[in-house]
Amino acid sequence: MKALVVYSSVTGNTSILAEAIYHEMIKHIDHVDFLTIDEVDYQQLATYDVLAIGTYTWGNGELPPEMDDLYYEIEQQSVGHLMTGIFGTGDSFYPYFCGAVDHFRDMLFVHTELAVTLKVELVPQTEDLNKVSTFCSRLVRTRVTV
Ligand SMILES: Cc1cc2nc3c(=O)[nH]c(=O)nc-3n(C[C@H](O)[C@H](O)[C@H](O)COP(=O)(O)O)c2cc1C
Repeated sequence: MKALVVYSSVTGNTSILAEAIYHEMIKHIDHVDFLTIDEVDYQQLATYDVLAIGTYTWGNGELPPEMDDLYYEIEQQSVGHLMTGIFGTGDSFYPYFCGAVDHFRDMLFVHTELAVTLKVELVPQTEDLNKVSTFCSRLVRTRVTV
C-alpha cells in the first residue's frame, strides 16, 4: 500500500493537523508521502492507494486557489480506486464553516472511494487530535470484495 498526505496551510493550523495525520498513517502503511500542495506531482496520483487531503477555507467558503489543480486532476484522472479522506481547518465566524472541506468531500464522493472527513476549528486542540486515529483507521481499513 502507498499513501499520500497532501495539504495547504498559510498560518499553520492545517499543517498541525496534517502532521498528526501523517504520524498516525505511518503506523498503518509502510510508504507514506507527506507533501505540501506545491510539491505534488499530479502524474503520480493514480499510483497511490490512499489519499488524505488537508485544506483551509478561503473567501466565502471557497477552496484556496492553490488547491484548484488537485481538485481538477482528481476529477479528470482515473482514480476511482483511491481511498480518500478530506480534512481541514476553518473559522466558524464565517458563514460557511470549512466550506473547502465540503467542496472536496462532494467531488471525492463522486470520483473516488471517499472514506472519511474531518473539520477542525482553527488551531487543533487535544480533542481534535484524538479524532486523528479514527480518521486514519477509517481511511486505511481493508477493503473487502465479495
Ligand atoms: C480572508 C479569509 C477568508 C476566510 N474564509 C473562511 C470561510 O469562508 N470559512 C471558514 O471556515 N474559514 C474561513 N477562513 C478561516 C481560515 O480557513 C482558518 O483560519 C484556517 O484555520 C486557516 O488555516 P491555516 O492556518 O492552515 O492557513 C478565512 C480566513 C481568511 C483570512
